Amino acid sequence: MRIVVLGANGGTGRRLVQQALDAGHDVRAVTRQPESFPVKGPGLEVVAADVTVDAPVDGADVVLSTLGVPFSRQPVLVYSRSTATILAAMRGAGVRRLVVVSSSATEPHRHAEGGFLLNRVIQPLVTATIGKSTYDDMRVMERLVRDSNLDWTIVRPSGLFDSASVTRYRLSENCADGIFTSREDLAACLLAQATDTAWVGRTVAVTTGEGAPTLLGMLRREAFGK
Ligand SMILES: NC(=O)c1ccc[n+]([C@@H]2O[C@H](COP(=O)([O-])OP(=O)(O)OC[C@H]3O[C@@H](n4cnc5c(N)ncnc54)[C@H](OP(=O)(O)O)[C@@H]3O)[C@@H](O)[C@H]2O)c1
Repeated sequence: MRIVVLGANGGTGRRLVQQALDAGHDVRAVTRQPESFPVKGPGLEVVAADVTVDAPVDGADVVLSTLGVPFSRQPVLVYSRSTATILAAMRGAGVRRLVVVSSSATEPHRHAEGGFLLNRVIQPLVTATIGKSTYDDMRVMERLVRDSNLDWTIVRPSGLFDSASVTRYRLSENCADGIFTSREDLAACLLAQATDTAWVGRTVAVTTGEGAPTLLGMLRREAFGK
């Protein structure tokens, strides 16, 4: 298949490009910084583009978007603007299959695994303060994608962490109980959508059990770099 990966130079994007090449696909990796893109291999084309302005999707069988930006107190518009550009480019090029990464936090819900700390402190605080603009813009992105009339899937991970390999990740419709997702698993889930139509027109939450950090461990690492 010919797969276009947007956000290819990010943590998930690099893994996704590598997994897609390993599976024998042709991949166009789109990044604003092609000079720093580390993945190499036959079947790979690296293209420079700011996706809020230009989405080079011509010739694709499927477009997989992992692009994103860090939390900011400034208005975040990259998800909605890039989605508008992607949708226009896909319509223009006659490409129908689109898979975008959103976040489980766009629909805050109680996590059985989260306890008091996540459910009553962290989730309400993050979604109302530093994450608010990001999640507001992700919700606009989700609406644009749902209204697009394309063959879309929205993939919602929980808190991302790095792991060495893909595990038996869990999928659930809309929301998940799990509070972590490894970038390897997120990449594998995205790649699976390229050939699987089960989640077309649906929103899927993906979470990782095996090897996931604890909430306290993750907080310690974020706060103290340990
Ligand atoms: N961190 C979490 O816990 C968490 C939780 C839930 C969901 N998510 C979402 O999961 C996705 C993957 O996260 P990640 O941490 O693996 O990604 P990441 O490392 O933040 O990478 C995102 C990539 O998006 C690209 N990008 C941003 N703006 C762009 C633009 N205008 N045009 C082209 N590319 C652009 C950047 O690449 P270039 O610099 O090369 O352009 C960047 O490398 C993101 O959508 C994120 O919002 C994250």
